[in-house]
Amino acid sequence: MTHDPIPLLDLKAQYASIRDEIEPLMRDVADTQWFIGGPHLDAFETSLAEYCGAKHAVGCASGSDALLLSLMAMGVGAGDEVICPSYTFFATAGSIWRLGARPVWVDIDPVTYNCTPESVRAAAVTCTSLKAIMPVHLFGQTVDMCGMIAVAEDLGVPLIEDAAQAIGSRDTSGAAAGSRGTTGCFSFFPSKNLGGFGDGGMITTNDRDIADHLRRLRNHGMDPKYYHCEVGLNSRLDAMQAAVLNAKLPHLDAWSDARVTNASHYDQMFHEAGGGDTTASLDECRLPILTPARPKAPSRHIYNQYVLRLPAALRDDLRAHLVDQKIGHDVYYPVPLHVQECFRDLPASELPWTEQAAAESIAIPIYSELTESQRTRVAETIITFVRTHAAVGV
Ligand SMILES: Cc1ncc(COP(=O)(O)O)c(C=O)c1O
Repeated sequence: MTHDPIPLLDLKAQYASIRDEIEPLMRDVADTQWFIGGPHLDAFETSLAEYCGAKHAVGCASGSDALLLSLMAMGVGAGDEVICPSYTFFATAGSIWRLGARPVWVDIDPVTYNCTPESVRAAAVTCTSLKAIMPVHLFGQTVDMCGMIAVAEDLGVPLIEDAAQAIGSRDTSGAAAGSRGTTGCFSFFPSKNLGGFGDGGMITTNDRDIADHLRRLRNHGMDPKYYHCEVGLNSRLDAMQAAVLNAKLPHLDAWSDARVTNASHYDQMFHEAGGGDTTASLDECRLPILTPARPKAPSRHIYNQYVLRLPAALRDDLRAHLVDQKIGHDVYYPVPLHVQECFRDLPASELPWTEQAAAESIAIPIYSELTESQRTRVAETIITFVRTHAAVGV
């Protein structure tokens, strides 16, 4: 029997559901020809700050630039150290490196895939020029923010939240990602829960001076016009992106809730088949599959990715099988940053959980518009494959 392909993400389905809301706003940008700054950007900055529970929000060209601008506003430069995980998208460390500073790697907690306050505290002991800490709310789940804030305060350094994957997620205190750090950095890359029609980013902060500084830095360090007291970037969120994002923001919670529902159904199917969650170990499970452990309310995971873990060899064979079955999937991230060639001159780090996650993880479709029958086919295909192949000891 042949089945229709199931993509890892189906952006066309989302667009079809809100085309009538997006197009008039895009048309307004075209009619007014107001492409840089203007009312769509102002409205989106105000709405996003409110959504994240932060006092200020500053649009910029991408999530990568949100990180870079935050570091620049904190005065990070040549020879400085910034603590960050190795198990993340490249931009986290790339932003540090571009300023001549050095990423200091920390391992992850295998239950949440996030770095912990304890690992950051331990890494700080090895630093001589620590300027900031940059934890990542990976896959849509926040780090332990209460612990992370305490560590940042003890160390006397700013806390830059890489919240690129985590818009609308909440920590154990119920506070939104990006509302408690010195800055919160968001990406509107199309695959994010709130995705634009191209690149875009935003920085949140509760500090007016930092917000003003970021506004200047995103515009070549210029204030007033044609006067530059420092060198910044050209990094603006353009009006067309802001218009699209204004249309999408009111739907974000419903979309993220639909992802949570999909995740619950997957959890149930994998657990009924003998899998566990990441609080268990693979060899304890009747079926060697670990689902993401669910955080308890008021924490909120927004499942930008739904990531399973399987024994490494089985994971690789499963990938090939999913290609055959035309089921979208990906590995976030197959090569951790501390072993990337461009970072080979940094001191060697032992990050066993990072390396294990890179070898064992696989992300499967979780997007809001995934139908029940698609979801069931994804889970059944994986369960049947793992049952057959784990039994023969692949
Ligand atoms: C954890 C993380 N940080 C930073 C970024 C960079 O965001 P952008 O692609 O908008 O530059 C991403 C985007 O994929 C990300 O996942």
